[in-house]
Amino acid sequence: MPEFNVDFEPVGRRIAVPADKTLLAAAQDAGIALISICGGEGLCLECRVRLMSGSLIPPTLVEEGALTQKELADGFRLACQTTPLSSVKIEIPPESLTANQRLQVEGQESHVELDPAVQPVEIELPPPGLKDLRADTVRLRETLSAMGRRQPELPVPVITQFSEVMRRQDWKGRLVEHRDGSLVSVLPSKAPLHGMAVDVGSTKLAMYLVNLETGETVGKAGAMNPQIAYGEDVVSRIAYANHGEEQRRTLQTRLVDTLNGMLADLRQAAGVTQEQVVDAVVVGNTAMHHIFAGLSVRQLGQAPYVAAVTEPLDFPASQVGLALAPGAKVHLPPNIAGYVGADHIAMLLATQAWLMPGTTVALDIGTNTEISLSTGGRLLSCSCASGPAFEGAHIHAGMRAAPGAIERVQRIQGEWRILTIGGLPPVGICGSGILDAVAEMLADGVIDARGILRKNAPRVLPTERGGAFVLVPAGASGCESDILVTRRDVNEIQLAKAAMRAGVEILLMEAGLPASAIDNFIVAGAFGTYIYLPNAVRIGMFPDLPLERFHQVGNAAGIGARDMLLSTEKRQLALEILQRAEYIELTTHPAFFDTYVKAITLERS
Ligand code: FES
Repeated sequence: MPEFNVDFEPVGRRIAVPADKTLLAAAQDAGIALISICGGEGLCLECRVRLMSGSLIPPTLVEEGALTQKELADGFRLACQTTPLSSVKIEIPPESLTANQRLQVEGQESHVELDPAVQPVEIELPPPGLKDLRADTVRLRETLSAMGRRQPELPVPVITQFSEVMRRQDWKGRLVEHRDGSLVSVLPSKAPLHGMAVDVGSTKLAMYLVNLETGETVGKAGAMNPQIAYGEDVVSRIAYANHGEEQRRTLQTRLVDTLNGMLADLRQAAGVTQEQVVDAVVVGNTAMHHIFAGLSVRQLGQAPYVAAVTEPLDFPASQVGLALAPGAKVHLPPNIAGYVGADHIAMLLATQAWLMPGTTVALDIGTNTEISLSTGGRLLSCSCASGPAFEGAHIHAGMRAAPGAIERVQRIQGEWRILTIGGLPPVGICGSGILDAVAEMLADGVIDARGILRKNAPRVLPTERGGAFVLVPAGASGCESDILVTRRDVNEIQLAKAAMRAGVEILLMEAGLPASAIDNFIVAGAFGTYIYLPNAVRIGMFPDLPLERFHQVGNAAGIGARDMLLSTEKRQLALEILQRAEYIELTTHPAFFDTYVKAITLERS
């Protein structure tokens, strides 16, 4: 039997397989965790992949039933149903990977015209001698004048570095100049310049170490935000910071220490020195932004919840204790409002949602969900308190997206099938799992549109608080007890999805448009990438639009931060987004309450 190579992108794995091996089996052999809830029986329709080059057997009847004509024409297939006819290149969309693996592909390379805020200048100076007693800085200034270059501002730590490095390197070296005219670092000749892009989420941190001369991401890392120890969500962290100066500083220092640790690990793995990290862009929601920059967050905790600053900020990295090159600056892009921060601007920038023709809704789901609607040159933005339910909090068996968490639930041929992160026995439910569970319970009649459990439905147990559904019986769970979905859990999801949907509806109302006018619906953020869209539509969390109008884009805020690190033009565009944005305050909007209450019902709309 012939053998063919199968290249899986963007995970970048290749494997040689016999011609009768399915792409699902090939992916599994290559160590790629493609979702296959039904175990390859062609029932769950989760194992979607796209043919990029080469040829596969013709679509089976199962695939013809599961995929639209357009999807088939675009090369989409079910991995469990197809085998190669030649060597092939296969794209795995993020939603076809289990959560663990999705983190690895998060932050794919973008194509940005390189125009960073720093540039290198190769330099050679005459060494001092008995007849040339000029000071190091005079020697430098006169050499730069002779080269026809402007005089840089020389921060003291960079002068120290200059004196040491130039002597070590025989008076040859590489200066790194910031656009603002200051000297950032002094490096050995040809040492490549790097930058750090960070997305500071309330829960998670994402960091990218990027070569500023090639645009290549040489390392990326994720970590939990250490501030969680001082408050789970933004509101409790603001309250903690407002206890006093010491508490505010603690939040800032813990964050910076963690970022320094992450950067040191990335640098070490990539062979990059601290002096080579010559620029940084940090994005986050407004509270994270303020805490990082050392700004007061008092006004974020009190009505009318205004930001201390919305314009972009640039300041020395050393001012906040970041361990970068001695003269490196940190760029913080603009915030839109107290609860719509630079991370949302970075997301809009990376997805180009604000420039798309027609009408686009872009949202980033978290404890707070930021939403923008772009139409006819207008950009309307709001923020809604969607709560921590989608992060697994306030859910009876809830947990974060960690190994053993149920991340998908499907009812197939009368059977409840679940998929856990890492394929481990289930110990709890994460956000995407609880969303699926509620949607499948609704479809199966276990709950009604009000979220009330049907008492005589199979697997429903009576409880004092409206009953509970046994999603996984104790015998099949990894925690020796039933994994339940309670009436209260359903209610938490109803409130969370209603807040989000009401935000979308208010923006549409302000623009004078019906939901059907939305041409593109962009869902960003980690949770947004993992959710199963048909279920989000089924419970009315998202409008009832054709599924091809939805786009799950992963950590677009991180990608936006990286784009701004590589391009000052992108920083300028971020400012344009700020200028265009019209912020709509939902809590005082006259139609918000009614819209919210209406959206609590679990129904497609
Ligand atoms: S694994 Fe292919 S359809 Fe379920």
